[in-house]
Order: sequence, then C-alpha cells, then structure tokens
Amino acid sequence: MTQAGDPLTEIYQLALHAAPSGIMVVGDRGDIQYVNQTLADMFGYRMEELLGKPVEILLPEQYVGAHRRHVENYARRPEPRPMGSGRDLEGVGKDGRRFPVEIGLRPAQTDSGGVVVATVIDITKRKAIEDRLHQHEEQLEELVTERTRELRAAQREKERVLEHLIQAEKMTAVGTLVSGIGHEINNPLYVVLAAAEALTDETDIGQCRTYGHEILKQAKNIAETVKNLSRYAQPGTRHDLQRVDINASVAGAAHLAQRALRGDQIEIKITTGPAPAILAKPEEIQQALFNLIRNAIQAIAGKGRIEIHTAQEGDWVTVRIQDSGAGIPQAHLKRVFDPFFTTKGPDEGEGLGLYIVRQIVTRYRGTIDVDNATGGGARFVIRFPTADLKNAAGEEHS
Ligand SMILES: Nc1ncnc2c1ncn2[C@@H]1O[C@H](COP(=O)(O)OP(=O)(O)OP(=O)(O)O)[C@@H](O)[C@H]1O
Ligand SMILES: [Mg+2]
Repeated sequence: MTQAGDPLTEIYQLALHAAPSGIMVVGDRGDIQYVNQTLADMFGYRMEELLGKPVEILLPEQYVGAHRRHVENYARRPEPRPMGSGRDLEGVGKDGRRFPVEIGLRPAQTDSGGVVVATVIDITKRKAIEDRLHQHEEQLEELVTERTRELRAAQREKERVLEHLIQAEKMTAVGTLVSGIGHEINNPLYVVLAAAEALTDETDIGQCRTYGHEILKQAKNIAETVKNLSRYAQPGTRHDLQRVDINASVAGAAHLAQRALRGDQIEIKITTGPAPAILAKPEEIQQALFNLIRNAIQAIAGKGRIEIHTAQEGDWVTVRIQDSGAGIPQAHLKRVFDPFFTTKGPDEGEGLGLYIVRQIVTRYRGTIDVDNATGGGARFVIRFPTADLKNAAGEEHS
C-alpha cells in the first residue's frame, strides 16, 4: 500500500505507528493487509506476524462465526460506523488474553479492491473505571437506602419516646389532681348523703322532690368532675387524629384545673369565638391547655383572674391565656419552654409542663408564643391550623 522512499509516506507511516489507537486494514476476504505498531503491541504480535492472516485470529473463538456473517453483511452495505454498537466487544491477544475493545470501521476503495480500515482501542482501563464507578454508585445507593431506613426508625423512636413523656407528665399531674378532686367530690357527696338521709323520714312529697333535685344536681356535679378527670387521665389513644373542638377542650381543661387545683379565689373568664375544628388527639390538646391554666393558677397568689379567649384568624385557631399573676421576668421568657426549667420548689414543679405543651403544639403544626400583658401577668398564645386546611397535621400522624 505504501511506497518506500517517499519522505511523505515515511512521515505517514511514523504518524500511523505513533497513533494511540490500533489501526488495521482488512481486505474484503477478511485478510489483514496492514497493522500499525500500536495494534500489534495491543495484541502482543510483531507486525509482520499479522500481515496476510485472517482477521479472526484477533477475535475470541465464539465470535468467529458471527463475525464472518457480519463481514458479508458489511461488504453489502459498507459505511463508516462503530462496530457492534450496544454490545461489548472483545479482542484476543497472542497469549490468549481477552480484553475489551472498541472498534470503528470505515470502508475504502484501493486499486486492488475494497478494504475496511478498522481502528481499535483497548478499553480495559476505561472499563475498569466504569465498573468501579458503577460499584460506587451501587454502594452509594445502598448507603442512602440504609440511612433513610435508619432515619425513619429514629423518627419513629422519637415519636414513641415523646408519647411516653407526654403520658408520664400527665400522670404526675394526675397525682396532684386526685388529691385536689377528693375535696371537690367530698363536698357534693356530703350534700347527697344529707339529702338522702333527710329523704328517709320525710313525708311531705314537695320536700321530697326538693331533696331529689338536690341529690340529682350534686350527683351530676360529681359525675362531671369524675368524667373530666378520667378523660384527662386516660392513656393517649393510638387512633388516628380526630377533629377537635378547641372551645370544648378549653372548657374541659378550665373546669378540671379550677376544681382540682382549688382555684376558688380565681375567676376564669372564657370568651369563645367561632373556632373551626383542628386535627389532633383530643386528650393531648386538653393536656396542653390544662398545663397552661395550671401555670396561670400557680402564678396567681390569692385572688386573681385568668382570661381565656379563643378565635379564628384566617386558617388558624388561636387560644390566648392571660393571667393576673406577676408575669415572667424578661430573662426567663426564652427559657420557659426548655425542659426542666422551673422557678418552683422541688415539690411544686419539674419544669416539664411548658416543654410538653410546646411538643404537643408543634406536632400538630401549631405555634406557641409568650409575653407579658400590659397589666403585668403572663400571656400565652397558641395557634393551630384548622382541620380543613390541607396538610394541617404532620405526615407522621396522619
Ligand atoms: N403563667 C405564668 N406566670 C408566670 N410564670 C410562669 C407562667 N407559666 C410558666 N411560668 C414560668 O415558667 C416556668 C416553667 O414552667 P413549666 O410549666 O414548664 O414548669 P413548672 O410549672 O415549673 O413545672 P411543672 O409544669 O413540670 O409542674 C415556671 O417555673 C415559671 O417560672
Ligand atoms: Mg407548669
């Protein structure tokens, strides 16, 4: 193909041998007519060993049959194209070593007939890098899946611990409530007993009716108190969230707190506005409100007043609780929600009340704020998104 002695031809030869790809020219009968140095080195032959040999000696045995068919097809429709696109091609060296290759084909016409110029690149290194990359990708995916699983488990664990904490805090309060409520039940109970005793030897039917009404009234009173307490004390339901009427929760919590905490000297004034339902566990809402009212009662020494106001503000339901106590010192305002922050004696408070309130409020996507009212007492405002607002509650609860 080349003419020795022509300086230009010599330069072409040098350039061909220095090319980073293997280059060979194959005749239309599949005989190797030319190879460059790179190709001979790639397959482990000397150049002259390959000349005149069938190209199949460079292919693994099992490809030889298929290759012949390809050659015939290619001869019918010769055009430049990569060989075996979409398939992994392999070459085989003189020592039998197989290695991955990429091959480009270009047909050409010479004086002695049609030939195909094939460029061959050994892609062993590239393949190895690709394989490593692929492995890394898989490892990374596994790692991400594993971490996601761990995070989910941690989130579930956090929820479970919080659930326990809320319940434990409630039980501490129930202890105090029970002793306070004993008194609240005893008083009407004495009235019931006295009226029942009087009934036993009363002959006047009109008087009997009066005693009957009194008994009924006091018994209802007791029943209401017991109902409130047992509703408060019941363990958190595992059920789905419910639509909660915040006005009813405020009334229940205020009633319980006033009865059980002997807030006789304290007037609790509730003004309710229209409050659309919120999505939550009712007993947790009751617990949060109870904690706020209990704090307010505890902050008032002697006579005082607690004002509770509910309202709807756009997509939010708000509850404002304001007391006539001494208020919260500026330096404490940021710390009152911290767990175990308390200014009360060891038997009076653990400093968990407001921490729990905030956990409950935020798990239903609500907010809580505190400041001091102009009159001096503390003012807490909690806000919950209304139930009909899309995604009102956290996914973890739905
Ligand atoms: N209405 C309020 N007026 C004045 N100070 C308050 C009021 N509410 C809370 N505080 C302050 O915030 C602190 C933390 O309240 P929190 O309810 O978390 O704990 P606690 O009442 O001390 O104890 P626990 O609630 O566990 O019985 C209280 O000790 C008190 O100093
Ligand atoms: Mg408290």
